[in-house]
Amino acid sequence: MPRPATTRVRRARRADLDELIALEERCFRGDRLSPRQYRVHLESTRAWLGVVAHDGAIRGSALVMFRADSPAARLYSIAVDPAARGEGLGLALLRAAERAARARGATSMRLEVSAGNAAAIALYEREGYACFGRKRRYYEDGADALRYARELRR
Ligand SMILES: CC(C)(COP(=O)(O)OP(=O)(O)OC[C@H]1O[C@@H](n2cnc3c(N)ncnc32)[C@H](O)[C@@H]1OP(=O)(O)O)[C@@H](O)C(=O)NCCC(=O)NCCS
Repeated sequence: MPRPATTRVRRARRADLDELIALEERCFRGDRLSPRQYRVHLESTRAWLGVVAHDGAIRGSALVMFRADSPAARLYSIAVDPAARGEGLGLALLRAAERAARARGATSMRLEVSAGNAAAIALYEREGYACFGRKRRYYEDGADALRYARELRR
């Protein structure tokens, strides 16, 4: 697999839908995006959906949402195929998501992460995200969400 510097992240397209749903099923037990939600995000001007494709399969995805009334972008989801973890794809997707947010004029990125998700928390903290709050019992499994944010420098 490629390393982050050479990992190509591209915008998702409609033809990726089945692969995106299969990846979602491999990566999340609950709180999954539905096929319908994916279809909406693929068409939406208020969403950026990026993917890493390798050997014809989608290995990772990231979804950023924008709101017209807020300079903060929201990283809604980031997921890497279990078979492709630890190879820099998550980092490449996060950085691509931040580039996409900057290109849209966002000045910060916010996200929520399950309090027990050590891998994702390490990824975000490595990239300068700071925890600024907690939402109790936010997820379907009853776990708390930690709220993280970082400024996006130009
Ligand atoms: C979180 C996730 C996206 C990381 O993807 P990845 O491609 O394995 O991550 P990378 O290889 O790019 O690692 C980048 C950094 O993340 C951190 N990290 C990743 N996996 C880690 C782990 N298992 N333990 C500790 N730190 C980890 C490290 O800081 C790592 O940097 P380093 O290799 O220099 O130490 C992946 O584990 C995943 O898809 N998890 C399931 C879905 C999920 O929980 N998404 C986040 C919430 S929406």
